[in-house]
Amino acid sequence: MGFNNPGIHAGVANVRSAKSFDGIIGFNIGKNKDTPNENAADDYLICLREAFPVADYIAVNLSSPNTPGLRDLQGAEASARLLDRLKTEQQKLATEHGKQVPLLFKIAPDLNETHIRDLSKVFLDGGLDGLIATNTTLDREKVADHPRANEAGGLSGRPVFEKSTATLRMFASHLGSKIPIIGVGGISSLKDAQSKIAAGASLVQIYTSFIYQGPKLVREIAKSL
Ligand SMILES: Cc1cc2nc3c(=O)[nH]c(=O)nc-3n(C[C@H](O)[C@H](O)[C@H](O)COP(=O)(O)O)c2cc1C
Repeated sequence: MGFNNPGIHAGVANVRSAKSFDGIIGFNIGKNKDTPNENAADDYLICLREAFPVADYIAVNLSSPNTPGLRDLQGAEASARLLDRLKTEQQKLATEHGKQVPLLFKIAPDLNETHIRDLSKVFLDGGLDGLIATNTTLDREKVADHPRANEAGGLSGRPVFEKSTATLRMFASHLGSKIPIIGVGGISSLKDAQSKIAAGASLVQIYTSFIYQGPKLVREIAKSL
């Protein structure tokens, strides 16, 4: 599948043309499907340079299951190398543009505790600014009886909530309060958002529930959190 879209230049142009928007703009960047992982940093660096002037933060997507091999970038060594390249460039861009733009890594809900511990060390050592936990899951346990359970791709919404929150909780326990975490995955109510905060999130995001409940859900959650 890959990330089918017109590319980073079109994304940046869209943001530049939206003059009246004064909210927070996070850019989510990923490598091209046909870029081998050994050259992945080049794609992320291109996107980082382009998005930096217009972004408030940049989410480095290492966890989409829809781009073959992308999740291998979550290996401790691979992510340490990538973080190092991106942090170096981030500092250069900060001087050039006179502003800081935080770098967040977005991770999968399908990591085991050892992996989470190793990655946490990489993130702390490498000066990661923030973490987004989590992307969609490959796990089909919660939808085992569904006729489409075995289709390829990431599963979002309600079925990812528990795994995603457990992953968030484990990262929070390893990172302490040193790296803020955005909690995302299956939030469909105020109670779900509160659970993410209780598990260690500083902020929350919603994707799937927005389709079903629209902006009203955001207002309800923002009002009461
Ligand atoms: C159709 C679709 C497209 C998505 N595209 C991306 C993407 O390009 N980059 C990314 O980091 N996450 C992507 N995600 C993952 C979501 O941002 C979110 O992390 C995940 O769906 C869990 O949250 P939710 O249960 O609220 O949807 C996508 C999810 C869906 C369902």
